[in-house]
Amino acid sequence: MTTTDDFVHVFTPAAEPDAPTLLLLHGTGADENDLLPLGRALAPGAALLSPRGKVDENGMNRWFRRLREGVFDVEDLITRTAELAGFVTAATRAYDLDPGRIVVSGFSNGANTGAALLLLHPRLLCGAALFAAGAPLQGREPDPVDLSGTRVFLGSGVSDPVTTIDQARLLASQLEDRGARVEEHEHPGGHQVAPETLDQARAWFERSRF
Ligand code: MLT
Repeated sequence: MTTTDDFVHVFTPAAEPDAPTLLLLHGTGADENDLLPLGRALAPGAALLSPRGKVDENGMNRWFRRLREGVFDVEDLITRTAELAGFVTAATRAYDLDPGRIVVSGFSNGANTGAALLLLHPRLLCGAALFAAGAPLQGREPDPVDLSGTRVFLGSGVSDPVTTIDQARLLASQLEDRGARVEEHEHPGGHQVAPETLDQARAWFERSRF
């Protein structure tokens, strides 16, 4: 069974009573500290749970293995996403969090992993704000899970060479087909969290009342 000791992580308690928890998943080469400012900007009162990906790719932390840029080891992704889901459940108990009010946010490899959590562990999260996310299972059609009640914000760059806009739109339709309420925001830039996208995500988070 996965415990909180299985992932190096940062936990910051909620600054406001009854605030939700934001699970933060960093991009390739970053660590558990990278997205803390984004988390505070997105959801100022929320508890922050920020683990570190356990795959080492030439010294860079990741959430799952890839064969080369843009080509994922989907079996590894499935196994490691299950382990991460176990960590989230363990942390929910250890830090006395409301299991019905956990929202994931991630960038790039972390956004793909957040998308995999939604599609493979549909009852774990009530929402997601994902930046530069694509369809994580790549050639495979995800199972017909029920994501009704799940709110998702996707921020994607139409000129992103890493996560193409087609991949981002495919993810949006996979989530919508399974009942999620998806807001897709496209910016003209590349593989980044564009400032205007973060503003849109913040407004979305506030509107969503998690
Ligand atoms: C991934 O591997 O998840 C994506 O290609 C993004 C990246 O981390 O470079």
